[in-house]
Amino acid sequence: MVGGGVAGSRGRPGGSPGPLPERLLAALAAAGAPPVTDPAVLLGLGTDWTGRWSGPVLAAVAPSTTEQVVAVLAAARATGVPVQVQGGNTGLVGGSVPDRPALLLRTTRLQRLDAVDPLERTVLVGAGVTAARLAAHAAAAGLRFGVDLAARDSATIGGMAATNAGGIAVLAHGPMRQQVRGLTAVLADGRVVRSAGRPRKDNAGYALAELLVGSEGTLGVITEVELALHPAPPASTVALLGVPDLAGAVAAGRAVEAAGGQLLAAEVVDAAGARRAAAALRLPDPLPPRAAWLLLLEVADGGTGEALGPVADQVVAVGSSPPDRARLWALRERQTELYAQLPDLVDKLDVSVRLDHLDAAVGAVRDAARGPGPAGAGPERPAGGAPWVGIFGHALDGNLHVQLVGADPLAAQRVLEVVAALGGSISAEHGIGRLKAAQLGMVRSADELAWMRALKAGVDPTGLLNPGVLLGG
Ligand code: FAD
Ligand code: MLT
Ligand code: ZN
Repeated sequence: MVGGGVAGSRGRPGGSPGPLPERLLAALAAAGAPPVTDPAVLLGLGTDWTGRWSGPVLAAVAPSTTEQVVAVLAAARATGVPVQVQGGNTGLVGGSVPDRPALLLRTTRLQRLDAVDPLERTVLVGAGVTAARLAAHAAAAGLRFGVDLAARDSATIGGMAATNAGGIAVLAHGPMRQQVRGLTAVLADGRVVRSAGRPRKDNAGYALAELLVGSEGTLGVITEVELALHPAPPASTVALLGVPDLAGAVAAGRAVEAAGGQLLAAEVVDAAGARRAAAALRLPDPLPPRAAWLLLLEVADGGTGEALGPVADQVVAVGSSPPDRARLWALRERQTELYAQLPDLVDKLDVSVRLDHLDAAVGAVRDAARGPGPAGAGPERPAGGAPWVGIFGHALDGNLHVQLVGADPLAAQRVLEVVAALGGSISAEHGIGRLKAAQLGMVRSADELAWMRALKAGVDPTGLLNPGVLLGG
């Protein structure tokens, strides 16, 4: 079963997790990373962004150098206390808080921010730097950081590398894995891996840095990342389109590309979600009556809107000034927050399928969420608190964010099963975390799982780092 569908019940509550071994306390202080032990602070740190996952934190430390991370892990190993790694704590799969008494290692003080290398178009940053800070730093050098997401003000580069974050610019630049040129990480056993500063073409053996990307803190603590940056695109136009289905959304995106438009983003929101966001933002209903989906396209066309010619008959709004673009983007970017406010949001899932399966996936997901009971789970909120499936996502990445509202606790499991049956993934960009550790076998073979466990055991034989995340147990 995924999660269990009950907010706040997915980890042991914070409360009094017990005393921290004196020896560990002394070692942390000697390492220059004195621990925070105030129970009220620890309770907050032990609860994730969704408020649905919480666990007992013995103490929290925030080292500011790689050497301090080495010392913190050594102290934890010596005392056998598990370590939970946490960046900006914006993860959506329960991977940023512990499920058993643990030392919380926060990366937020790893704030190195080097000058941009204009020749290589790279920058070396500390793992605790936020996406927004890095984006501003890159922009000041006339370049663009390739990953952007609504959590940009809190999400850290280390957390984004650890989850291989996607977001709204994957279409243009790929996910986090494609931005990482190198990194520094302290493995669970204390060894330090440094791959930043190497030439861009370098095929000398296993790509160890890439292995850390998407490892969700199970292999090591990433302390620094060297990132590729991109030439800033020309000024852009944002357009909202009404489309009947997701095949229509993909076709519209491809038509703009075929006409020479450089697509920066192609995002979808179902009609009910788009209308709810419009109401919250006090904007008019953005959709014509028969459109089932709102499609947002951002095109780097110098702000002329010319690239939208092939889809002009579907366009319902256009913006090219920064405030107009932001107003249109808000209909998409506010979705996470608006769903988070619903008291009966049972689960949120992040799935992907190949592009030709998108509409089949939407139908199968809605049916699966409804289950064998009477009809109810659909795109519109029904009366009387019946189940409701909200969907938004990154259309041309084949990535759907499925919000199960008022659903039964087994709905998420059924949804993941139908997605896996369509050959899709149960985690497109948020990671596996604790939420889907028990379901990893739906999309990875026994041999692949055994190899993952062998890699983990090779650097973390006692299961010190992030126990329970990704591989379960
Ligand atoms: P955390 O939440 O603190 O941690 C996430 C995982 O990474 C945990 O397992 C943690 O142990 C591990 N970790 C953190 N830092 C390190 C480190 N330095 N070394 C090793 N392991 C580490 N995600 C997307 O992919 N695309 C989106 O579009 C997107 N939009 C979002 C919008 C909102 C409003 C919110 C709240 C979240 C969104 N997310 C999205 C999810 C989240 O922002 C990402 O998963 C992000 O990468 C998490 O970064 P973080 O610093 O908050 O990491
Ligand atoms: C998004 O694309 O908005 C995010 O991945 C967050 C979410 O799924 O809620
Ligand atoms: Zn997303």
